[in-house]
Amino acid sequence: MSKNLNELFLEQLKLCKVKPTETVAVISELGKKNDYVNAAVDSARSLGAGALVLTASSLSSSALPPYHSDGREIPALLAAASECDMVIDVTVGGLVHSDVRMRITGAGKRMLFVAEPAEVLERLMGTEGLRTSATSGAAKLKSGRMLRVSSEAGTDLRVDISGADLPVTLQYGYVDEPGRWDHWPSGFVACFPKDRTAQGKIVLQPGDALIPWQRYVRDEVTMHIKNGFITDITGAGADAFVLRDYFESWKDPNAYAVSHVGWGFHQAARWSALDVYDPRSLYGQELRSTAGNFMWSTGPNRYASRYTPAHLDIPMRGCTVEIDDRPVVVGGRLEGE
Ligand SMILES: [Fe+2]
Repeated sequence: MSKNLNELFLEQLKLCKVKPTETVAVISELGKKNDYVNAAVDSARSLGAGALVLTASSLSSSALPPYHSDGREIPALLAAASECDMVIDVTVGGLVHSDVRMRITGAGKRMLFVAEPAEVLERLMGTEGLRTSATSGAAKLKSGRMLRVSSEAGTDLRVDISGADLPVTLQYGYVDEPGRWDHWPSGFVACFPKDRTAQGKIVLQPGDALIPWQRYVRDEVTMHIKNGFITDITGAGADAFVLRDYFESWKDPNAYAVSHVGWGFHQAARWSALDVYDPRSLYGQELRSTAGNFMWSTGPNRYASRYTPAHLDIPMRGCTVEIDDRPVVVGGRLEGE
């Protein structure tokens, strides 16, 4: 039998090690996702913790959900959130790429974003195993110098991931350490390669995913990449045209940049999710997390001072990912699987 939201949030807050001495802040938007707000508050209180609800009158833009926020409300939001130990973000678009997130986690607070439907939250709940996979994946990225992704379809891209300061994101779906951000559910690692080092080409195949468009690629598309930027998008089908049109629409060279690269390892995450569910009800975490997917993305990289709201996450099937010639994913399967 499936669990209700309250039961799921309670399980989640236990993973996040919420203690009775702590206060949890819930950041929400007026009139949106009230069931998530209530479940977060009830769970925190049933663990003996305090719970504070911070409701902004407007944070999301329907056109650019993950990026823009209403500046006037941010200082008050930050002041209140910084008095709390953990922040649960149930805003519609999420404060994922925002300054708010960096300032909360930078102050040592744990922050968790929650957006997916209850059934996805339950089925893909974080585990110690995911945490272990994330930690070991991140270590491989940190100690690596060159990441190469290739496929039978013709993908062949190399990026420079050298340096101890490589920005690495490890997501396993809960926040059990100070300063940690995560998105429930998750199961992937990613890094921002050295700026302007990506060279080669990506060949998208039908069944690869375009997030946040929440749909599968339908036609083969080749993205040529030089010095970290997409220089050409070719292909006979409509998808090449549609992708070209999307990138052109931003009128921003930064939209064409390669952003983060990495791979997924959540064994319960299914490729079919975008067809099984109403895709617009999903945030795409299931596709980002599928075991053995290679995910790359386009647009922003705060570590290279490149800011743009144009951001596609593209999980791909059937790729081989190697770090310094040692495979971590072979033909779309996790090495050693
Ligand atoms: Fe992304």
